[in-house]
Amino acid sequence: MTTLAQYLQTHTTAQIASTMTTLATASVAISNLLSQGALAGIHGEAGGQNVQGEAQKKLDVISNDLLLNSLIQNPNCAGVASEELDDINPANENGTLLVTFDPLDGSSNIDINMTVGTIFSILPYHNQGQKATESDFLQAGKHQVAAGYFIYGTSTMLAVTFGAGVAMFSFDPVSQNYVLINEKVTISEQTAEYAINSSNRRYWLPPIQQYIEELTQGDTGVRNKDYNTRWVAAMIADVHRILIRGGIFMYPYDTKIEGKAGKLRLMYEANPMSFIIEQAGGASTDGVQRIMDIEPTGIHQRIPVVLGAKEEVEYIKALHEMAGILANGEKA
Ligand code: F6P
Repeated sequence: MTTLAQYLQTHTTAQIASTMTTLATASVAISNLLSQGALAGIHGEAGGQNVQGEAQKKLDVISNDLLLNSLIQNPNCAGVASEELDDINPANENGTLLVTFDPLDGSSNIDINMTVGTIFSILPYHNQGQKATESDFLQAGKHQVAAGYFIYGTSTMLAVTFGAGVAMFSFDPVSQNYVLINEKVTISEQTAEYAINSSNRRYWLPPIQQYIEELTQGDTGVRNKDYNTRWVAAMIADVHRILIRGGIFMYPYDTKIEGKAGKLRLMYEANPMSFIIEQAGGASTDGVQRIMDIEPTGIHQRIPVVLGAKEEVEYIKALHEMAGILANGEKA
């Protein structure tokens, strides 16, 4: 049996290991609160709105505070950015790492007793001796030194990459340890399962319209096989399913909300999940380019996301190319 603590000793630097330990400790506290559910008084709305204009659930706020307060006390952490907070939080000027997180992805699932999770990304910090600013965080995803998620489902699990494959851990409530269950998670290049919110169909660009049309035609259409849909409406759960049994996940560019290039956030969701998926042998694109090559322009930037089985992702990219789509839905 290998615990997370043992794994960290041999698979990453002391600084990243310490930061991961801080994240894991906070995740256990969040998981405990979630398992108490209504009894912990965490259901319902907290009253405020996050920076994306969405209502904050009570546990969003609690999880955010738990993660933030413990990370800023970690001497390795030079700064923290949360999906729930307008501004980044500078931490230890001599730290070597920056952390971004989505404290509770899929938080609308809490009240219905469904899966939620914490997504995190760790970036290098290059300005030691100076207070971290937002621009320090604006690094392309390919510079991440670690990324992953804690998923609070029927059990609590962790998937993490340090750039050399993906490891998966399961939390043991008896020993209170994350225990390694798979040290090299890989996903198939092909799939017959896809995840997309089809209610947005009329807002998609032609390449995604065409793609979904082909899949729904099943064995009567050009793909010549039947496909199955799964949509948990929590990216964390949809990505976790893909890591376990393959598939493709899409929250593509859509014209539903003017000026917003998709729904998901580059720094808190798209980059960390892309790192995980690529390290497991999958691929990730915004439809036009590799997500981890995108130079961020803002800490809360939104981005279209297509990730999972390599062959499907490449096919969707080819459909965008053929349609002459440039970044953010613009046509050439
Ligand atoms: O963070 C946004 C999010 O909750 C993702 O986790 C999830 O994939 C998506 O929104 C669900 O969106 P929709 O409400 O359109 O199904």
